[in-house]
Amino acid sequence: MPDTDLMLKSIPRAIEWKNGELYLLDQTQLPLDVVMEKQETAEQVWASIHALKVRGAPAIGIAAAYGLCVAVKISQNKPIDQFQALLEDRAAYLDSSRPTAVNLGWAMRRMLAVSAQASAENSSALYVRLVEEAVQIHEEDKALCRGMGQNGLPLIKPGMGVLTHCNAGSLATSELGTATAPMYMAHNAGVQFRVYADETRPLLQGARLTAWELQHAGIDVTLITDNMAAHLMSQGLIDIVITGTDRVAANGDVANKIGTLGVAILARYYGIPFYVACPSSTIDMKSATGLNIPIEERDPSEVTEFGSRRTAPLGVKVRNPAFDITPNELVTGLITETQIVTAPYIDKLEAIYGD
Ligand code: MRU
Repeated sequence: MPDTDLMLKSIPRAIEWKNGELYLLDQTQLPLDVVMEKQETAEQVWASIHALKVRGAPAIGIAAAYGLCVAVKISQNKPIDQFQALLEDRAAYLDSSRPTAVNLGWAMRRMLAVSAQASAENSSALYVRLVEEAVQIHEEDKALCRGMGQNGLPLIKPGMGVLTHCNAGSLATSELGTATAPMYMAHNAGVQFRVYADETRPLLQGARLTAWELQHAGIDVTLITDNMAAHLMSQGLIDIVITGTDRVAANGDVANKIGTLGVAILARYYGIPFYVACPSSTIDMKSATGLNIPIEERDPSEVTEFGSRRTAPLGVKVRNPAFDITPNELVTGLITETQIVTAPYIDKLEAIYGD
């Protein structure tokens, strides 16, 4: 009988709320150092999200929800209207830390809805409700991950090679990850399979994070550079691709880490199914298509330097989009917490998430 508790114990946690304080695992230091960093101000939480100390769509939403509590904690003695105005200001500020993952704005809207429904309360009572809501967002995410794990589990068959890109793992969520949830569950059920982790230039989330957490959990993981994926596919080593996403538009277009589009095109060429694990918190029915999704452009130094060593000529022009859009026609299915959604996406997503 697979021991789920044992599986959960072997999975690292990116976010902890302990005794009314927020701690984030500084993922920029992985895999060398495992450092939990206490977050004391809204500015620190903003910087932690912006610098990718905490990253991955669901984790960003959870961290910002707790971050909002951190931001207003010392203002509980203020009159309720001033406290609520501060809350709105801090929520907008935290929401500005990264643009692409919809979970960030989604979490801030949920926290502000608590405030809107609590106008008669005093500030400290509202603070308690805000903490409860942040804890609930965190706990709900665990259930979302388990749901995706359960629905994606039958896709991973004995002997398969599974390719993933970036890190949509426990480090990017509350617990089991999104793309990794079926992998953790399959491993726990004794299924023998191999994972290939794209290293994911320029910030190496695949190498530093996915390879680290899967190895930690005892899953058979092999690291490859991004430009090796086509070769491995041509050799018949990849049977399925599973990635995460930062935002899925109403028509099923998928925003995810830069390079995902290339992997999806390759998968189509080689006839390999391409699945995207997507909790309902990552679906954005307000973005009609992928064209409506803002793509974060990050600092050129991420491309011109490797580690702290310069690898490009001074003054060279650089582009550094952090995400790309995979058109819905390349997506075999969206693994959600309730079901696997397949084409036609517009009608099905409207039927499920239209409200
Ligand atoms: O820039 P990052 O590391 O935040 O990008 C993360 C990704 O692209 C993940 O695949 C996505 O957020 C899904 S996380 C479950």
